[in-house]
Amino acid sequence: MARTWPRIGVDIDGQVVDPATLFDPPLPVVLELGSGMGEAVTAMAIAEPDVGIFAVDVHTPGIATLVRTCEREGLANVRVALGDGVELLRTMLPPDSLRGIRAYFPDPWPKARQQKRRLIRHDVVALFADRLEPGGFIHVATDWVGYADQMLEVLSDEPALRNTYDGFAPRPEWRPVTKYEQIGLAKGHTVRDLIFTKEPRG
Ligand SMILES: C[S@@+](CC[C@H](N)C(=O)[O-])C[C@H]1O[C@@H](n2cnc3c(N)ncnc32)[C@H](O)[C@@H]1O
Repeated sequence: MARTWPRIGVDIDGQVVDPATLFDPPLPVVLELGSGMGEAVTAMAIAEPDVGIFAVDVHTPGIATLVRTCEREGLANVRVALGDGVELLRTMLPPDSLRGIRAYFPDPWPKARQQKRRLIRHDVVALFADRLEPGGFIHVATDWVGYADQMLEVLSDEPALRNTYDGFAPRPEWRPVTKYEQIGLAKGHTVRDLIFTKEPRG
C-alpha cells in the first residue's frame, strides 16, 4: 500500500476534491462504500473502463487486497480511500459530484439495539442524494430481510430520489457476487437489490 498509495490512494483529510479529477482524463465517478475485499469494484472497473470507481472501506486488509488486484490487473480507473465513507462524503465530496453510489451488503446490525448504526438511514440517504449528480443512481443490496425493508422505506422517503422499480429490483446480472453475498446465499438468505435515481432538475 505504501508503494502504490501515491497513485491510487486518497487520504480522508477533509480536503474538498472533485472526484472526476482523481482520474486523467477526468471520468464520471461511482463511489462504492464498504467495498470489502473489492470483488465488485474490480469486476465493474474492468467492465466499464470509462467510469471511475472510488472505493472506500475502513478495513485495511480489504483495501490492501483491492490495491493489489488493481495493480495486477493494470486498472487505471480505480481510486481507494481507507476510513469512514460517510465522513468522506460529508467533508470532501461536493454536491452533484457522483454518477452513482453503491453499497453492497452493508453491515446488517441485526440486533434491535444496534440498528441505529445501519448505513442506510435517513440522514445518510439525504447525504447520498445531495452528492449525486441529477440522474445519478444509488444501488444497494442486502441479504437481511428486515434491512431490505428498511432500505426500501428510507430510500422511498427521500424526496430527491425515485425508485427505478416498483419495490425491489431484479438482481442485475452485471452485479458480481461478493464475499458477503456468498456467505448469505450459503445460509439460504434471500438477496434484495434496490436501485434509485436522483430526479433530474426540471
Ligand atoms: C458486510 S461487509 C460487505 C463487504 C462487501 N461489500 C461484500 O459484499 O462482500 C461491510 C463492509 O462495510 C465496511 N464499512 C462499514 N461501515 C463503513 C463506513 N462507515 N465506511 C466505510 N466502510 C464501512 C466494513 O469494513 C465492511 O468491509
